[in-house]
Amino acid sequence: MVSFELLIMYLSINRGELLGLVGESGSGKSSLGLSIVRLIPPPGRIVDGEITFRGMNLLKLPEKELRNIRGKHIGMIFQDPLTSLDPLRKIGDQLVETIIVHTRVNEEEAKEIALRALERVGIAPDRFDDYPHQLSGGMRQRVMIAMATMLNPDLLIADEPTTALDVIVQSRIMDLLSDLKKSMKMAILLITHDLALVIERSDRVAVMYAGELCEVGPSEVISQEPLHPYTQLLLESIPDIEKPRTKLVYIPGNPPDMRNPPTGCRFWPRCPKVMDVCKRISPRSLELDDRFVRCHLYNGGLECGK
Ligand SMILES: Nc1ncnc2c1ncn2[C@@H]1O[C@H](COP(=O)(O)OP(=O)(O)OP(=O)(O)O)[C@@H](O)[C@H]1O
Ligand code: SF4
Ligand SMILES: [Mg+2]
Repeated sequence: MVSFELLIMYLSINRGELLGLVGESGSGKSSLGLSIVRLIPPPGRIVDGEITFRGMNLLKLPEKELRNIRGKHIGMIFQDPLTSLDPLRKIGDQLVETIIVHTRVNEEEAKEIALRALERVGIAPDRFDDYPHQLSGGMRQRVMIAMATMLNPDLLIADEPTTALDVIVQSRIMDLLSDLKKSMKMAILLITHDLALVIERSDRVAVMYAGELCEVGPSEVISQEPLHPYTQLLLESIPDIEKPRTKLVYIPGNPPDMRNPPTGCRFWPRCPKVMDVCKRISPRSLELDDRFVRCHLYNGGLECGK
């Protein structure tokens, strides 16, 4: 059995706020999103902690109650839209069924809500009776976005919602999310590897490396003055077309195997600022003004664990 640990320092999302969660592929972003709604596939499991939503600890909630929260109060856009839709059923029927399960409306009203939700993401009404395979990948992605947002949840977990889309549709979807955030006061967790998108569109950024959050703070502050060496390197590796031609910066090495991560700071084998203490002791998370950072550079090299 594989066991793993997801070390998350305190992370919160407020109503009407968009929090971008970024990190390299395999850093555990989707696992964090799935943990919130307790959908971590076995043998993964949540060993400790608290997930508070509307004053309830979701980790203690009976499965039946949680099922009512998922889809209604917490909308989810999963990373792979094809596996999230039933290939044997028309998309319209899938939307209508979800609405009826969670609300008291009749079929006709549910159809109206579903059509409005499809329209919001740019899917024409004549696609209502299509099967998922009749739609392009980007259209399926948009159907998933319509499904996740049509009941105006308090929290939306959007895992790579625009990755399969061209830049124009991507921008339209991001405008939709911004609009939902403002008009419905929706809290949005945007999971993506696209740091440039997050800096541009989110209120706060959480940077993840090898199953741990290393820095969390307002997007503007983090983009102007990143503290964690990993965040610094991620930002440096974003190409800037306005700057003179320079060699593209990349982060040498690969993320560790999370079943057997390095001792101490998990980033030390790739960190240009590594110190002796980093190899032995895991840095604890420090609160500095309006952000959190987890790096020995800000502990004054003190040997304090998490
Ligand atoms: N803390 C952890 N310890 C060990 N394994 C983990 C941990 N978190 C996630 N994993 C495993 O690592 C793999 C990648 O995790 P996950 O899919 O969450 O990463 P991701 O950041 O979403 O990657 P991508 O950007 O490619 O979608 C999964 O197989 C998952 O089970
Ligand atoms: S704790 Fe040490 S190795 Fe880790 S990011 Fe900070 S300086 Fe680098
Ligand atoms: Mg993922």
